[in-house]
Amino acid sequence: MENDRDLDEARRQLAGATAAQALAWTGARFGESAAIASSFGVEDVILIDLAARCAPRLRVFTLDTGRLPPETYEVMEAVRRRYRISIETFFPQREVVEALEREKGFFSFRESVAARKECCAIRKLEPLSRALAGKAAWITGLRREQAVTRAAVEMVERDRANGGILKVNPLVSWTEAQVWEYARERALPVNALHAQGYPSIGCAPCTRPVAPGEDVRAGRWWWELPEHKECGLHARAGGAR
Ligand code: ADX
Ligand code: SF4
Repeated sequence: MENDRDLDEARRQLAGATAAQALAWTGARFGESAAIASSFGVEDVILIDLAARCAPRLRVFTLDTGRLPPETYEVMEAVRRRYRISIETFFPQREVVEALEREKGFFSFRESVAARKECCAIRKLEPLSRALAGKAAWITGLRREQAVTRAAVEMVERDRANGGILKVNPLVSWTEAQVWEYARERALPVNALHAQGYPSIGCAPCTRPVAPGEDVRAGRWWWELPEHKECGLHARAGGAR
């Protein structure tokens, strides 16, 4: 298949690449048709910091679900100012959120995995499909170490859930210690919630701190089983070719 030849070639070119090399490759190959997806956790700030130096044409977008914690908006603003970049925001469709809240209330996602997935579909997946429309590739801060659902993620994948575009995960093999070493060395603006026990930060009502030694994503949708804990942004994380 033509597409898979592209993927194989990308994988050959990125074999053994560092995160900076992966970003530089993506920027050189796709320019403005590639974008960094940022939720403004520390991993995503690292991607933006690296890209500022080695792939400045890459766009940065965020899915503003409407339920993000205030600390996330603070770090978005700090990043916007430090790197003098424009952050493209994708917001859910107003009428659809209005109907969801009118019909199912303000915490429908607590009712069942299906109800939670419905909320994620409205607040994250539909906006993601607009963010990726016309793009050839997107870049994420996924790391293998983050979750059982992410153990098989590759540095470059074909994202079949999003029209078959390429998905590049430059930090795939980084450990948490490497992440924090980089953040400290570069004095990066980081989400204040990280220091309060939140290694992974999503929407405010679906994220809580974790206890020392607990899994990094234990505080995300903590009432669900680990194998359900993907919102669909990375539907095939680890399963994509
Ligand atoms: S999630 O699927 O559970 O929400 P997680 O928070 O671990 O994902 O983030 C993994 C990667 O997905 C981030 O590094 C980022 O690239 C992307 N991502 C997650 N949430 C968002 C968001 N709200 N906006 C843009 N990108 C996001
Ligand atoms: Fe809705 Fe929670 Fe998903 Fe955010 S993380 S979109 S609030 S279910």
